[in-house]
Amino acid sequence: MATRKAFTDSDTADEAVRTTCDDASVCKRFATSKGYWKDPYIQYFVRQTGERKAPEINRGYYARVRGVSHLLDAFLRQMACNCQVINLGAGLDTTFWRLKDENLLPKKYFEVDFPMIVARKIHNIKTKPPLSKPIVETHSTDALLIDGHSLDSDRYCIIGADLRDLPGLEEKLKAFQLKPELPTLLVSECVLVYMTPEQSATLARWAANTFPTAMFINYEQVNMADRFGQVMIENLQRRQCNLAGVEVCRSLDSQKDRFLTTGWERADALDMMAVYSALPQDDVARIEQLEFLDERELLQQLLQHYSICWATKDQLKLGLSGVSF
Ligand SMILES: C[S@@+](CC[C@H](N)C(=O)[O-])C[C@H]1O[C@@H](n2cnc3c(N)ncnc32)[C@H](O)[C@@H]1O
Repeated sequence: MATRKAFTDSDTADEAVRTTCDDASVCKRFATSKGYWKDPYIQYFVRQTGERKAPEINRGYYARVRGVSHLLDAFLRQMACNCQVINLGAGLDTTFWRLKDENLLPKKYFEVDFPMIVARKIHNIKTKPPLSKPIVETHSTDALLIDGHSLDSDRYCIIGADLRDLPGLEEKLKAFQLKPELPTLLVSECVLVYMTPEQSATLARWAANTFPTAMFINYEQVNMADRFGQVMIENLQRRQCNLAGVEVCRSLDSQKDRFLTTGWERADALDMMAVYSALPQDDVARIEQLEFLDERELLQQLLQHYSICWATKDQLKLGLSGVSF
């Protein structure tokens, strides 16, 4: 009976984590509808603009999307695209299509998420030509694999897997021509926080051991031990969503330590207030005109509770330490 209950509880927990994928996409869809940044593809995953979101939420998503893509694009340029990218817990992310439009596609762009999310993403791709056409265009042979659980083309691959099951993940990635010797960028955006510190450390160690030349970009909560952080945790718990990895979100140092203790040579981290100040200020000035913001202090608090941490190891000495803000 106890085993049955444990199984049911963890099932519910995973289901709550999966719903965060819709939250992220719905917020990104709303912010793009207001003009914070351009994403012509997100409408094919989230049809409606949805309920209004507060300006500080939109600015927070702006900093997140611009901050992560700044590092991602810098990595791709540094490698002259001769590399691979693995987006861990990608959800309905549309980066593949942006990179194709901007001529910045890596040799292969991989995404991993729970099979249930992957099945939804693939269904949308199959049924919406603006999504499927760019994949077909970047594929040279006839055989493009696309079934309910995975998609594999020359340049884009989507895999259904659990990031806590590394042998399973590795087997699937290798079956789809992952090349460990190629410089590799791993990206996780609001994903590791849903895993225990041991599970995310195991994932970070696996990545460090697998790829000799690599970078890991992680976006998620930080400074969670204070009162504001406590309220964020309680809000998520009310929706059955447990931040199993919140311990690692105590500070910028604890974020960096996850990588420095698992085989990465170097790690840097900034809170999102610092990232917001480091973004091109002409564009920041543009988005600050979009909506009137009543409480600048609330925006600051929100931005101080998220961070980007990036870690590198550079066996091939390709200048990864220069990929920064
Ligand atoms: C908050 S969403 C973020 C989605 C996307 N990275 C973004 O920023 O738009 C978290 C995603 O991580 C995925 N995820 C969390 N834990 C996972 C695990 N153990 N295995 C696979 N995917 C996981 C969820 O299914 C969800 O799609």
